Amino acid sequence: MSDFDVVVIGGGPGGYVCAIRAAQLGLRVACVEKRPTLGGTCLNVGCIPSKALLQSSHLFDEANHGFAAHGITVGSLGLDMKTMMARKDEVVEANTKGIVFLFKKNKVTHVVGSARIAGAGQVVVSGEGGEQTLTTRAIVIATGSEVTPLPGVSIDEERIVSSTGALALAKVPKSLVVIGAGVIGLELGSVWRRLGAEVTVVEYLDHILPPMDGEVRKQSQRILEKQGLRFKLGRKVTAAERKGEGVSLTVEPAKGGEAETLEAETVLVAVGRRPFTDGLGLEEVGVEKTDRGFVKVDGDFQTAIEGIFAIGDVIGGMMLAHKAEDEGMALAEMLAGESAHVNYGAIPSVVYTWPEIAGVGKTEEMLKKDGVAYKVGKFPFTANARAKANGDTDGFVKILSNAETGRVLGCHIIGAQAGDLIMEVVLGMEFGASSEDIARTCHAHPQLGEAVKEAALAVNKRTIHM
Ligand code: NAI
Repeated sequence: MSDFDVVVIGGGPGGYVCAIRAAQLGLRVACVEKRPTLGGTCLNVGCIPSKALLQSSHLFDEANHGFAAHGITVGSLGLDMKTMMARKDEVVEANTKGIVFLFKKNKVTHVVGSARIAGAGQVVVSGEGGEQTLTTRAIVIATGSEVTPLPGVSIDEERIVSSTGALALAKVPKSLVVIGAGVIGLELGSVWRRLGAEVTVVEYLDHILPPMDGEVRKQSQRILEKQGLRFKLGRKVTAAERKGEGVSLTVEPAKGGEAETLEAETVLVAVGRRPFTDGLGLEEVGVEKTDRGFVKVDGDFQTAIEGIFAIGDVIGGMMLAHKAEDEGMALAEMLAGESAHVNYGAIPSVVYTWPEIAGVGKTEEMLKKDGVAYKVGKFPFTANARAKANGDTDGFVKILSNAETGRVLGCHIIGAQAGDLIMEVVLGMEFGASSEDIARTCHAHPQLGEAVKEAALAVNKRTIHM
């Protein structure tokens, strides 16, 4: 008999959730993680520390620029980076320790070390105490992703940093050049801009936030520019060189043309992430990968080799913690003999800038491309009473619904708490809701969520407050 029913490789949101769910269902589970702490990129150097710094820097920015409008005066404002960073580290520690507790509670065996798949049913772990072989019925690869490097720009995590280094700068740089106007670039660019850095974002495409709805992209760029972020669109960085106390960057128009030089104290490389499969021995056992390095799986998350499965960033699709979690949960249930699935059409994505930017389902651009007849309902936060009371009137809610059936096909929000507001639409989409269903659902007053109801009413041109 094997030691385990399931060995999960990787303790990030995909892996740890899969391990816990499988254990809840009575399976004998081990989770191998090479970091000393659990939680993967998300808890250690991603979602959680960035949200801690986004919150701290937002409060600083409010005290600096927002309080006065409320009649609150503050004396001279100080910034204690050491305390801010220590708080962030405490938040990370509390969260990673939480997973250790959950593993104990659910009787998941936590193995610290690097895993290699020796064959179906065999995982060799090299850790501090040497090598050990775990035998198992199923292996789950949940090794996540790593920063995509940029040719000509070598990351030293000091002056030229990835998101990891940008979460731990010792002081506020005078100037920061961010390469890539995606989620990481805008979130971490916002943190350091609020704390006082001059931030320039260089983006290859002619717009920011590539996968988002076009109108949301345009409005978010306008709002971020008002906050002081500068954008250089349609440009690529071809080289970055350390020069004295700073970095000199060569920037070229994406379509070709004359290069210019940019100087910055610090550079953040945020041009995407790529699957991480180093050292797993996938080639040796015959697990197939796509030409972009993602592990190939079928509809049940099984790789080319029976008994070896994969979930999360390593299989591609939306590289989001909650997508990985849902895949982990579904796979655990399948391994326990239940049926499960993930609805990829209703996965929200949220950018935690101020205001937040959130989207689910189809964008207008996608619907046009697919030739789907749709209706649009839009409602601005300037017309929402609570947004006015709060002083957070930037942004709007946009609902896209099928012109014939009324079924909600997508929702895109830019505004305070957009990430929370979108959840009622995500839930609605899971239940196949029409915009009329949302419009006829009673929404508490006075709340920002009333803007969602009004956008749903706007689909059939009958908003009340516009
Ligand atoms: P991203 O894919 O969101 O954005 C990368 C950007 O860099 C794109 O706009 C791309 O056009 C641009 N780019 C690529 N090459 C370039 C070049 N040579 N010069 C200039 N621009 C270039 O990737 P990002 O921001 O690094 O994030 C990585 C992953 O982490 C994403 O999949 C994202 O979804 C996830 N993430 C999610 C968060 C959230 O859900 N709030 C927060 C942070 C990351």
